[in-house]
Amino acid sequence: MTNVFYRAARPLLFVVPAETIHGWTAKGLGVVQAVLERTGAPTPAHDPLLRQELWGLTFPNPLGLAAGFDKNGRLPLVWAALGFGSAELGTITAQAQPGNPQPRLFRLPEQRALLNRLGFNNAGSAAVARDLSRRLARRRPPIPLGVNLGKSRATPLAGAVDDYRTSLAALFDCADYLVVNVSSPNTPGLRDLQAEAQLAPLLEALQAENQRLATERHTAPRPLLVKVAPDLSDDGLRAVVDVSIGVGVCGLIATNTTIDRSGLPPAHPLAGEAGGLSGAPLRDRSTAVIRRLYSLSGGQLPIVGVGGIFSAADAYTKIRAGASLVQVYTGFVYEGPGLPRRIAGGLKRLLQRDGFTSVAAAVGSDA
Ligand code: FNR
Repeated sequence: MTNVFYRAARPLLFVVPAETIHGWTAKGLGVVQAVLERTGAPTPAHDPLLRQELWGLTFPNPLGLAAGFDKNGRLPLVWAALGFGSAELGTITAQAQPGNPQPRLFRLPEQRALLNRLGFNNAGSAAVARDLSRRLARRRPPIPLGVNLGKSRATPLAGAVDDYRTSLAALFDCADYLVVNVSSPNTPGLRDLQAEAQLAPLLEALQAENQRLATERHTAPRPLLVKVAPDLSDDGLRAVVDVSIGVGVCGLIATNTTIDRSGLPPAHPLAGEAGGLSGAPLRDRSTAVIRRLYSLSGGQLPIVGVGGIFSAADAYTKIRAGASLVQVYTGFVYEGPGLPRRIAGGLKRLLQRDGFTSVAAAVGSDA
């Protein structure tokens, strides 16, 4: 039903600039969050076929909200209420920052894509931690919450370790898992941190801080994941896998947006705009990266597959290529609030059709 309304309203919504609509949506959902803080979010259905235990966390279904939609972590209960099995908040940086000048978010409806160069606009890790911990103290959602960390734009690459460490320490208590984002194309130099010589010391330092905080709090370290770009070479992917296994990273998120424009018609008016492309043109490249990471890691590192998922079939393809969990951003913008439940329901049918008794059994079955 929500789908019918969303489809009817979409042409009107899409007349308004993309970021304006995003702002209105966030305001409206903020009211829903406030109500849910009083009433509680409905517990998502725990279907034994879709439920998974990973890193000591229970995911009621494998579909999560991808990073970038809820940059300041304002809507955790809303994501659970919509039927997501997890939500990744952020990207959050140590310093508050406004991001790039507008316009910086564009729709490409014919390609079912978005192009963005937001540049990590966020309130900064101290402010987000203050606000989010208050919110979570009122009511914690019944789904795992990831917190995605990035580098402040003003911090030079040489200071990246301290910058990420500051945010990790601030947000440790709020997060069920943590993501080191070294793959957004909109912070100059950020993707260079994916190279072995940069990535190894960064992840070692963050794991040490993670362990230190866990000891101090008498709790377990948070599962630490690394989010990678779809534009890495095969050697680049191999280096990420080697370093990640070496420092005990818990999983990889593949992929962020792409700077490649080959998925667009050559004369597309937005092809020349700087930024990261997401949605349908990214889908197959993202799946190929997942398949390669699964093979390079010998299935040892759980993968979160993201990029161009619009349907249960798209999600299932990524799971069969090697993803244990999947996430969506652009598909949610195009398909609307009914998408998480539709994908979860459709995935269940696909698993049953093929005789799988769990998501885990299907992971990597086509790798
Ligand atoms: C993103 N994405 C993103 N990723 C991230 O790690 N931190 C971020 O802050 C953002 N911000 C962001 C803003 C916008 C407008 C978009 C469209 C995307 C990337 C996102 O999480 C995801 O990796 C890609 O968009 C690919 O998935 P979809 O959109 O094709 O489902």
